[in-house]
Amino acid sequence: MIRSVVRGIGTALPARVMKNTDFEGIVETSDEWITQRTGIRQRYIANESETTVSLGEAAARKALDNAGLTPADIDLIVLATSTPNNTFPASAVEIQQRLGMLHGFAFDMQAVCSGFVYAVVTADLYLRGGQAKRALVIGAETFSRIVDWTDRTTSVLFGDGAGAIILEAAEGEGTRDDRGIIASSLRSDGSHREKLYVDGGPSTTGTVGKLRMEGREVFKHAVGMITDVVEDVFVKSGLGPDDLDWFVPHQANKRIIDASAKKLGIDENKVVITVNLHGNTSAASVPLALGEAVGDGRIKKGDVVMLEAMGGGFTWGAVLLRW
Ligand code: ACO
Repeated sequence: MIRSVVRGIGTALPARVMKNTDFEGIVETSDEWITQRTGIRQRYIANESETTVSLGEAAARKALDNAGLTPADIDLIVLATSTPNNTFPASAVEIQQRLGMLHGFAFDMQAVCSGFVYAVVTADLYLRGGQAKRALVIGAETFSRIVDWTDRTTSVLFGDGAGAIILEAAEGEGTRDDRGIIASSLRSDGSHREKLYVDGGPSTTGTVGKLRMEGREVFKHAVGMITDVVEDVFVKSGLGPDDLDWFVPHQANKRIIDASAKKLGIDENKVVITVNLHGNTSAASVPLALGEAVGDGRIKKGDVVMLEAMGGGFTWGAVLLRW
């Protein structure tokens, strides 16, 4: 039985850190408001030369180093992003080119903050379907480019960055101790469009547009949607909250993360939190959080890890894997 196993991980952040206090003078806000309502203390903001492609490439190269592989070993790149360098070609193909890959195939995947979870599920299907042997799955974003810097209700929430993992098709015994992806669940519902969207696009305004969000409305739906997909994955896998070693949620707001973990019965010591460091980096948030917890030795080979995310669309989803 083929399983998609994680071979390596890498992350990349812009050079510039923006602290909460750096917003004072830009919009009417305070470090206290941002910290209390969101848990965010700082975020990284790309400079002109740092782009979704350059951050994604940097994360991909680190993941390759971490796995002891080279671009020649990869035959699929799936890039989750809502902030591509250009409308087309896909930023994934630009990353493929920068890595010197003249073989294999690459494409972008757009599911906003759920993008990385969608990309992992998609790459897993390609690997198990025999279409590819090793996939680079990247989440990379430069949300600072689509944030309205005059809007305090959104500008303080987002940051830029990238994370990547390498998934490899590996033959397993088919037991519950096998490493790799165990189960997943994806959902979307377009009736929530107006609560979180970008007010521009190639086919409507011909502009890039800015992010618009009714934060309170998003908040109201987030916990229920997240817990639904995580519970679906528990049912599919036959595992439960006590079997988890780590819960790695999308990093939008600490209050949403805490409430979701509590409702799911997941011990707070198993929850990986990086929203304080990175803000909401959309599709990059889950791989950035994974990178942090693998880097500091919390997540180890063989650990059972639940990933989840929820975002614009709405889209939401969860993936359970043995690291
Ligand atoms: N500084 C100071 N005051 C502010 C700020 C700010 N940066 N932003 C809003 N306020 C004010 C509001 O104007 C409001 O004032 P009022 O009561 O006089 O009208 C007050 O603070 C409270 O505003 P709320 O919106 O009710 O605050 P809330 O506690 O809901 O927190 C937040 C807002 C942080 C946005 C929260 O609703 C949230 O996290 N929502 C979910 C966002 C999310 O998870 N997005 C995920 C998907 S993102 C993606 O897919 C791209």
